[in-house]
Amino acid sequence: MPGIAVSTTINGDEVEFLCQPEETLLDVLRDRLELTGAKEGCGTGDCGACSVVVDGRLVCSCLVLGAEAQGKQVETVEGLASGDVLHPLQQKFLEHAALQCGICTPGFIVAAKALLDRQPDPSEKEVRYWLAGNLCRCTGYDKIVRAVLGAADDMRKAAL
Ligand code: FES
Ligand code: FES
Repeated sequence: MPGIAVSTTINGDEVEFLCQPEETLLDVLRDRLELTGAKEGCGTGDCGACSVVVDGRLVCSCLVLGAEAQGKQVETVEGLASGDVLHPLQQKFLEHAALQCGICTPGFIVAAKALLDRQPDPSEKEVRYWLAGNLCRCTGYDKIVRAVLGAADDMRKAAL
């Protein structure tokens, strides 16, 4: 079956792909476009491992159809680093050892960036509330929250 032709923008690049009507954006990213940063944890919108941003909104890509990306701006974790230079969130996750198995990490980083884009100076409570849709079975969350607060700090200083 040829599928639906979709034209979209992913991490600033114009991208065209064919997909089946029932295919999720997560499957398109991973299986057709080789963007495997977003992970499938649950496939039902409960874990946040598949988080991406579509037209400025944080979404679970397992709940979005690939065809819905038509004409949209999609941002994934692959778009965060600038060449060899990690995004401050990625750097802080490393420094704080805020990951173990790493399955949840791209989703946390994409979600945290969406928070910092809206609120550059979040409280710990705001970080915890915002990330409530992202599950981690390994870290106990504290290191993740410290990493996000640390990255926010660095980003504010860099903007001065
Ligand atoms: S895989 Fe999408 S929310 Fe879990
Ligand atoms: S680091 Fe393993 S699930 Fe979060």
